[in-house]
Amino acid sequence: MADQASTLRKMAKTTVHKTRGSAKGGRPKTGTTPRIIAITSGKGGVGKTNIVANLAFALTQLGKSVMVLDADLGLGNLDVLLGLTPKFNLHHVLTGEKSISDIIVKGPGMMNILPASSGIQKLTEMSREQKLNLLTELSVLDNDIDVFLIDTAAGISSNVMYFNVAAQEIIVVVSPEPTSITDSYALMKILSKEYSERHFNLLVNCVSGAKEGMAVFKKLTKVSERFLDISINYLGHILLDENMPKAVRQQKILGETYPKSQANRCFNRLARTVCELPIPPDSKGNIQFFWRDLFQEE
Ligand SMILES: Nc1ncnc2c1ncn2[C@@H]1O[C@H](COP(=O)(O)OP(=O)(O)OP(=O)(O)O)[C@@H](O)[C@H]1O
Ligand SMILES: [Mg+2]
Repeated sequence: MADQASTLRKMAKTTVHKTRGSAKGGRPKTGTTPRIIAITSGKGGVGKTNIVANLAFALTQLGKSVMVLDADLGLGNLDVLLGLTPKFNLHHVLTGEKSISDIIVKGPGMMNILPASSGIQKLTEMSREQKLNLLTELSVLDNDIDVFLIDTAAGISSNVMYFNVAAQEIIVVVSPEPTSITDSYALMKILSKEYSERHFNLLVNCVSGAKEGMAVFKKLTKVSERFLDISINYLGHILLDENMPKAVRQQKILGETYPKSQANRCFNRLARTVCELPIPPDSKGNIQFFWRDLFQEE
């Protein structure tokens, strides 16, 4: 797997240069390269899916074109959270029944949702020709998207690692619970030692205030500075807010139901922070590369 990660990195470098100037057609983009961000966590149930949905909406309100990918292969529920029932998914693209643009569904704020869960598992079974066709189709997405958010499953399975390695940025979501803190440390340890990931963004969810979020960040940086060769960028916190589960029950996001809630204000702030993240000099490239990563044969 470590070898695979280094091959992917090499591919990324060549792909970035090849495609940067090639965005033709489509709507004018606000940035030069789409940001590809994986939202991940060590422990499950810390709020990843809710964060992806609410952050995506907040980004659309800033005028960004956003696409979200439900990459939780087992128990993906982004569509349920958004109250959507997509009829088609990536599987139908692979069988040639539909094109990528046919399967993309629009969510709140006109965010684009790429229903994928069952289809992604089939990717490894495709022939080379099928893979190339799909890559060509997917490359058009590069022209239209500013931010691509990936909702991963929790934990350290190879599927989760795959998405994290393929993305440009990783946001590790952690809650103030000790088990969540230790599991996020374990996740960053594996990503750094086995996959050479050196940079992480940390988002602390379900906090009572800014102080608690900062304390979690400090705790994690203290141990990681000592034992891991990584840098952690603090993205801030999302407040524990009873409106969040209420919105989930209504299958709506906070921006629609409780726009003035404390947590929604945190998402608006987070969206601005995400837009201001510097593009790393060794940026891992575009969406096409991201997919190419997933197509790697074992
Ligand atoms: N800031 C918050 N305040 C209150 N409740 C929250 C907050 N964030 C998340 N929750 C609640 O926590 C629960 C778990 O959230 P979610 O499903 O988004 O977690 P997850 O990390 O995606 O879980 P999994 O690892 O199973 O995919 C939900 O019921 C959600 O409403
Ligand atoms: Mg989830």
